[in-house]
Amino acid sequence: MEERILSGIRPSSRLHIGNYLGAIKQWIELQHRARCFFMIADLHAITTPYEPAELQQAIRDVALDYLAAGLDHHKVTLFVQSHVPEHVELAWLFSTLVPVGELHRMTQFKEKSTKASLANLGLLAYPVLMAADILIYQAHEVPVGEDQTQHVELARVIARKFNAKYGQVFPEPKTILSGGKRIMSLSDPSKKMSKTDGGGIQLDDSPEVIKKKVMKAVTATKGGEGNAGVMNLFTLLKEFSDPTTYRQFLNAEETGTIKYAELKAQLADDIARHFAAFREKRKALAGNHRYLEEILSAGAEEARATAKKTLDQAKQLMGLA
Ligand code: TYM
Repeated sequence: MEERILSGIRPSSRLHIGNYLGAIKQWIELQHRARCFFMIADLHAITTPYEPAELQQAIRDVALDYLAAGLDHHKVTLFVQSHVPEHVELAWLFSTLVPVGELHRMTQFKEKSTKASLANLGLLAYPVLMAADILIYQAHEVPVGEDQTQHVELARVIARKFNAKYGQVFPEPKTILSGGKRIMSLSDPSKKMSKTDGGGIQLDDSPEVIKKKVMKAVTATKGGEGNAGVMNLFTLLKEFSDPTTYRQFLNAEETGTIKYAELKAQLADDIARHFAAFREKRKALAGNHRYLEEILSAGAEEARATAKKTLDQAKQLMGLA
C-alpha cells in the first residue's frame, strides 16, 4: 500500500512557531513523498472552552496558515475534521476497545482537566477520536510535536487490539518528530510554547512584534539546572539561522563571550525573514473566502471517499453491516 500520512492542528487560536517547527514544517517536506491528509481539528478544539461565534474564522485562519506555509492542495488532502463525520463514527467503535482508566492516565487529560467542570467526556475521549483521525486513513506516519506522542502510542494500541479482535485493517502508525519537536515559551522556558502563551511568536507576527517578543525572551538561569531559555534560543537559531551563524553563537556560548542581546537580535531578524514570503502569501489569500471554501470542500470529499471505505470494512468485521 502507498505510504500514508495524517496530521492536524486545533483551530484554538493563531498558530505559533512551535506548531510550525513541530508539525507544519515537516508536512511541507512530506507532501512530496507520501499521500498526505492534513486536517483542521475543530472537533478537538471544542473539548476545551471556546467561542462559537469565532470558530469558523479560526478554522479559516488555520487553513490560510497551511496554504501560506507551503502546503499544496493539489498534492495533499486538506480538510476540516467535522466535514468528515466518519471519524466520529469510527471513534465510537474504538471507544469500546479502550479502558477508561487508560484515558484518565493520559498526560494531556490530566493537564487540561484541572477543574471538575473542565473534565468533560469529550476531553477524556479526545485520544480515541485522534486515533480514529489517524487510523481511518490507515496512516503509517503521524508528523507531530513531542506532546502528541502519547496519543499516537494509544492509536497504535487501538490498531493492535482491533486487528487482533476483529481482523487486520489498521497499520500501526508511527510518530515522526522534527528537530523542533518541543519549542519552549519565550517568557517562561519551563513551559512549552502554547496557543495561550504570551511568549509565543505567531506565524504572521510583523517583524516589529517578533523583535519585541524575542528581545524579551528569558535567559536567566533558575536553580542549578541547564538554562532552558538559552537552550531554547539555540534550538530556534538552529532552525531559522544559517549554520555558520549558529556555530559562531555556539562557540561564543562555550567560551563565555556571548552577548544574548546580539543573539536575540540576529534570531529576530532571521525569524522575520523566514516568514516574509508567508506573510505576503497569507495577505494575498486572506480576502478570498470562496477559494478557501472550494479547497476545503474538495478536500472533505476526497477524504470522505477514503474514510468511508475503512469505516465500512471495520463495521463489517464488527458485525454491524
Ligand atoms: P495542537 O493543535 O495542540 O498542536 C498542533 C501541532 O503542533 C505541535 N506543537 C508543538 N511542537 C513543538 N513545540 C511546541 N511548543 C508545540 N506546541 C504544539 C503539536 O505537537 C501538534 O503536532 N491533538 C492534536 C491535533 C490532532 C491530531 C490528530 C494530530 C487531532 N487529531 C491526529 C495528529 C493526528 C493537537 O491538539 O495539536
